[in-house]
Amino acid sequence: MHNVTTVAHPLIQHKLTLMRDKTTSTKSFRQLLREIATLLCYEVTRDLSLDSIEIETPLVTMQAPILSGKKLVFAPILRAGMGLIEGMLDLVPSARVAHIGLYRDPDSLTAVEYYFKAPSHLGERLVIVVDPMLATGNTAVAAVDRLKEHGAGDVRFVCLLASPVGLANLHAHHPEVPVWTAAIDPELNDHGYILPGLGDAGDRLYGTR
Ligand code: URA
Repeated sequence: MHNVTTVAHPLIQHKLTLMRDKTTSTKSFRQLLREIATLLCYEVTRDLSLDSIEIETPLVTMQAPILSGKKLVFAPILRAGMGLIEGMLDLVPSARVAHIGLYRDPDSLTAVEYYFKAPSHLGERLVIVVDPMLATGNTAVAAVDRLKEHGAGDVRFVCLLASPVGLANLHAHHPEVPVWTAAIDPELNDHGYILPGLGDAGDRLYGTR
């Protein structure tokens, strides 16, 4: 699939299976999502550009690589996106965070915005939107719309599970946004849930219903 990377790492696949299991506790679900987020973060940042700086080791002076450009931005879609953010910040602690409050209207399945707060200079930063579930794609499209309205130009998307419909919707609106996902599940049910999926990611993260 164009512009989509499925991260087939065995550790991710193993942890994802545990997350799908309905008997997995809230505590374990949250911990597993954090662990997978770190692994996905490693993949989505694989091609970040580097500068070279001069440093002194205890023995000699050397030219050494360092990340170039402004700090990158993680943009969790509230609330389930928050489940990925700590794991990503474990790997990139200096990243900035843009919070995007969107929920799916249960009847229309369209995205409704209730909060948006982002760091400055979005246009000079890599922005990585994070949401565990790319289902219909409507919230993902709305999140990228809002980030672009605020100047973002270099945007990537990280999720745990994607559906073919969601990927097609996101790329119909934002074809240049690459997606990293742990798996692509085949279908959605009538309520817009991914099948086989893992249920409602927000509810399973926070123990709500
Ligand atoms: N959001 C979820 O939490 N789960 C799905 O399956 C789809 C959207």
